[in-house]
Amino acid sequence: MGTMIAYDYRNVKAKGLNKEQVIDEEKLKSYFFDEDFENLALLDKINLNYTFLDVSLLYPGCGADIFFPLIYLEKLFPTITKAKLIFVDSEDNLGLIKTVLDEVGVSFSEKDDYLSFYWKEKLITLHFFTSPIEDYLPNLENFSIYFEKAFRIMRDRIPNYEKKIYSKLNKGGVIISDTGFEEMNLSTVAVPLELSSYGEMIIGIKEEK
Ligand SMILES: C[S@@+](CC[C@H](N)C(=O)[O-])C[C@H]1O[C@@H](n2cnc3c(N)ncnc32)[C@H](O)[C@@H]1O
Repeated sequence: MGTMIAYDYRNVKAKGLNKEQVIDEEKLKSYFFDEDFENLALLDKINLNYTFLDVSLLYPGCGADIFFPLIYLEKLFPTITKAKLIFVDSEDNLGLIKTVLDEVGVSFSEKDDYLSFYWKEKLITLHFFTSPIEDYLPNLENFSIYFEKAFRIMRDRIPNYEKKIYSKLNKGGVIISDTGFEEMNLSTVAVPLELSSYGEMIIGIKEEK
């Protein structure tokens, strides 16, 4: 494990979309514990055979964690060219996310209520909603990827949480979670449990039928 990871807020101004930006890989690594960063290489062995080009990804309880979902998208979904990220957290972490993007050299534009930027050739739009997920869920549109990390204690208090999430996941959509979802009807892929700090990692696809 590395040392503490510092997230220091700065008032970052949007510099605009830039496909030619250069990511500072050392700075990027500094936002991970060493072991977590090394474990991300395990994703290279997983083949989801996912062929969609354009996806939406829900990440409840995201905190200021932008880089885990981006690296999962990069490694597990090579065909995707566009992704809409829907981040929902009870705390407003958008300022911190803008700061860390800027720190690693990701240049973003900001319009209305969302950011746009490139991540390794993929055009990302990031929509951040400050709300408890349980309040946000009833109005949530369907999505194609669900991402969860370090949110188990909070979401275990929400009645029927997994069923609610599953019902809004598109057919052919993918659940990526470091806990739960064993009872949902998913076609799971073999996945190294080191990817979860709870030792319960699941990646599963909602059947088309
Ligand atoms: C342990 S942190 C994990 C953050 C991030 N997923 C990560 O891995 O770094 C849990 C996050 O859940 C948020 N949270 C707690 N209860 C929530 C709720 N009911 N709905 C949405 N977010 C919530 C907290 O504000 C916090 O950012």
